[in-house]
Amino acid sequence: MHTLGSMRILMVCLGNICRSPIAEGLMQRKIETNGLDWKVDSAGTESYHIGEPPHRYSQKVCLANGIDISKQRARKFTKNDFDQFDKIYAMAADVYDEIKHIGGHGTDMGKVALFVNELHPDSNQSVPDPWYGDEDGYLPVYELIDQTCNAIIEKYK
Ligand code: 4NP
Repeated sequence: MHTLGSMRILMVCLGNICRSPIAEGLMQRKIETNGLDWKVDSAGTESYHIGEPPHRYSQKVCLANGIDISKQRARKFTKNDFDQFDKIYAMAADVYDEIKHIGGHGTDMGKVALFVNELHPDSNQSVPDPWYGDEDGYLPVYELIDQTCNAIIEKYK
């Protein structure tokens, strides 16, 4: 994987409206800045928000950093995604378990990883879910995702 010129990355959370849209937007920006031939997309393991744009506070914290994620639309993670991506990043432990469940019996989980483990190896840390909190929760989420995307770029570029 290290030396492949192109890498297809999928960022996955529950709703695909708070965390993974930030991860997609930040990684897209870094791919462009670094001139990499990578692709990034995002999805959610739950259906509640299919077709919706990212949460307004996710949009706001990204836009404050010059990244417009308003055009993204939530979609559900599917079994087919295992064939379409080289790396599937779960934003949290419950998301990892649900990806495994959707994959079903015999799924090769080798390409699935907990996202923050790329920044803090073996920590099994989750990106906090800001959905139930207020706007204050989105900045630390953004910063953790930003640092982790930097770590991924440095590791695989
Ligand atoms: P996300 O946050 O997984 O970061 O998009 C959530 C958004 C919506 C819900 C849960 C988490 N929800 O239960 O509707």
